[in-house]
Amino acid sequence: MNRQDLSGGNNLDPWYDSYAARTAGLAASEVRALFAVASRPEVVSLAGGMPFVSALPKERLDDTLARVMRDRGPVALQYGSGQGDPVLREQILEVMALEGIHGSADDVVVTTGSQHALELITKLFVDPGDVVLAEGPSYVTAMVVFRSFQADIRHAAMDEHGLIPDALRAKIAELKTAGKRIKFLYTIPTFSNPAGVTLSWERRVEILEICRSEGILVLEDNPYGLLYFDAPPPNAMRSLDDEGVVYLGTFSKTLAPGFRVGWALAPHAIREKLILANEAAILSPSSFNQLVISDYLATTDWRGQIDTFRGVYRERRDAMLQALDDYLPDLEWTVPNGGFYVWLSLPRDLDSKAMLPRAVTELVAYTPGTAFYADGQGADRIRLSFCYPTPEFIREGIRRLAKVVNGERDLVDTFAGTGSLELPRLDQDAVFIPPTNLA
Ligand SMILES: Cc1ncc(COP(=O)(O)O)c(C=O)c1O
Repeated sequence: MNRQDLSGGNNLDPWYDSYAARTAGLAASEVRALFAVASRPEVVSLAGGMPFVSALPKERLDDTLARVMRDRGPVALQYGSGQGDPVLREQILEVMALEGIHGSADDVVVTTGSQHALELITKLFVDPGDVVLAEGPSYVTAMVVFRSFQADIRHAAMDEHGLIPDALRAKIAELKTAGKRIKFLYTIPTFSNPAGVTLSWERRVEILEICRSEGILVLEDNPYGLLYFDAPPPNAMRSLDDEGVVYLGTFSKTLAPGFRVGWALAPHAIREKLILANEAAILSPSSFNQLVISDYLATTDWRGQIDTFRGVYRERRDAMLQALDDYLPDLEWTVPNGGFYVWLSLPRDLDSKAMLPRAVTELVAYTPGTAFYADGQGADRIRLSFCYPTPEFIREGIRRLAKVVNGERDLVDTFAGTGSLELPRLDQDAVFIPPTNLA
């Protein structure tokens, strides 16, 4: 068919009218274009969630790759099981045991990163209009998934100890009164993305009790739990409940995201459907990458490597906190004990999304807080990542950010009350989708 014949499209996309309704949430925002600029080397990017893979033992990985091809080539290059390699699934149990989880390899499903597990779980549970409860703020690309299944995303508030049980209770009651169907609670209880906070042990117990009594499944997403800087965090929520929690893990932050290997540990019945959904989506996770990770775990001091990562990220966290103390002493921020992120509160009247173009002009990038809410909150917040730039660059990035914040503050003060200043506002409704290198 001649594309000119397609009626109802638009000038830019002749297929505009053909997309499924569920793609409505897949609109790229103008912030995405800014991040293309922000990836230039002269810009200090405090925006991405990229692990510092240069800290990996390259020779050991070279050996592993060569060994897998030499000894397991025909298996590595072949389709595999839809559930994932059985040896790797046993090894995943050892990884999860570090956070108090005792499960069965039978209940582990290997996925293409935990992002893919998020997609599969949402596909299994969410019909259009169903509510997904998410702590606010929440991981931006999880919300993109929820939205793409036409979920109604609702937030329950969190503070410096994570999701607030009373806020969760109140939100559930409100939704039930409104006749809404809540399909699951999505939470990142340990070193959350973006807030960097950790749910206390007492709250873990209480939140599980609330969800159990309300019949709400908990989706526990835990990419950062092993990357602690001081004392280990409380055990995973899944360690307390093997019937009501689907747990997501990944090798992206403790090894490398390039392998795209993550997993779900699910209650038995859900696991069954998850395997079928995995097969429907990808037939089987990458055999090659699974065997490489399995060999790495069997032959390398992977716990020691995680310790190395902890040291790298601890130093960067410290550099960021010190720079914030030095350059923006009157603002407030969270103090993460692990993970990749600091959550910064701006002075009132500043809008982090509107301020971003100016920041990029000053050669520093961050992620505006609105990206982490489904309902427009977060204009006065910023997510700062300390995982990728060196401590020196982090310090320089915060110095530049302080210049932007203070400049913006002066502007607001100057025009306060005159009504003559309209700060540029970017489209608040556009869904923020980070470029693929910005997790
Ligand atoms: C909270 C959270 N969940 C899931 C993911 C996706 O990770 P993966 O690389 O395992 O797909 C990320 C990546 O940054 C994340 O921060």
